[in-house]
Amino acid sequence: MTAVAPRAPHIPVLLEEVVEALAAKPGDLIVDATFGAGGYTRRILESGATVHAFDRDPDAIAAGRLWGETCGKDPRLVLHPRRFSELAEGLAEAGIAGVQGVVFDIGVSSMQLDQPGRGFAFSSDGPLDMRMSQDGPSAADFLNEADEGEIADVLYRYGEERQSRRIARAVVAARPLTTTGQFASVVRKALGYRPDIKGPKAQKDPATRSFQAVRIHVNGELDELMEGLAAAEKVLVPGGRIVVVSFHSLEDRIVKQYLREAAGALPAGSRHLPQTLAKPVATFEKPSSAIRPSAEEEERNPRARSATLRWAVRTGAPARNNAGRAAA
Ligand SMILES: C[S@@+](CC[C@H](N)C(=O)[O-])C[C@H]1O[C@@H](n2cnc3c(N)ncnc32)[C@H](O)[C@@H]1O
Repeated sequence: MTAVAPRAPHIPVLLEEVVEALAAKPGDLIVDATFGAGGYTRRILESGATVHAFDRDPDAIAAGRLWGETCGKDPRLVLHPRRFSELAEGLAEAGIAGVQGVVFDIGVSSMQLDQPGRGFAFSSDGPLDMRMSQDGPSAADFLNEADEGEIADVLYRYGEERQSRRIARAVVAARPLTTTGQFASVVRKALGYRPDIKGPKAQKDPATRSFQAVRIHVNGELDELMEGLAAAEKVLVPGGRIVVVSFHSLEDRIVKQYLREAAGALPAGSRHLPQTLAKPVATFEKPSSAIRPSAEEEERNPRARSATLRWAVRTGAPARNNAGRAAA
């Protein structure tokens, strides 16, 4: 019996494009590295493949188990409650050495964003948490304990926030911060944000950039992405496909650079090196160009607006040992 997901609260982004890029066939083994509400997994199961689904959020895995049980315990759905940087270890424990596809849908799910208790959103007040895995130091721990310079660095690097020092100073002065509402209002006040200005002169809420930055830091998201891509390179069989959907420029830059170098381009910054430098062996064929949601999808699902999909086919070359680090 095929498992079928209940109506999911998360609308899968670029679903048709992901399914087409993965090209899963009956009998294939596919990794859904970011299970979420199982939107991709459901379609992959429908293609007749087996899915090894990873998620670091215990709530996503618990919902997936419930779904599996209510749908006849389809043995083709295997859930792994762990980070995708450990996907090779997870598969090895399941006795699997190679898979035909790995798909990543980076970032947070609607379930995480929409629950004030998870502390990801500033649109509703909740504890300043932001941990996908629900363990380790929270956003409040970071903002209340880090020194001003470290907070400014995080806001600048991961939020591309030009006023990072000013915000960091305001955060330190306002400590202790315990709620998302407090953090958002400290950021807005530091930047003189005027929500009352409407129309063409209306400003985008500046708390967006600071929330993104702290979330990326708390979850080590960019390191996870680099290690996840390298893990996919290790487990994909020749002809297997990597498919990545990302949601902001920092992530897309990592994915683009990673796939470029994996396809044999010299690492960025090496064009001044002697021309005798051997061209690296390609572990992936030339990647697709960036695929973006249609206007219709953006209209239907505003969360798709910033999405970019890239995919590539694995060659038969052995996986690189330093893969992922090179894209940093
Ligand atoms: C955008 S949602 C995925 C939605 C899914 N494609 C769907 O259609 O329902 C991202 C999910 O990936 C998980 N996630 C993010 N980073 C992860 C990581 N490093 N390892 C494992 N899971 C991760 C999040 O907990 C979240 O549930």
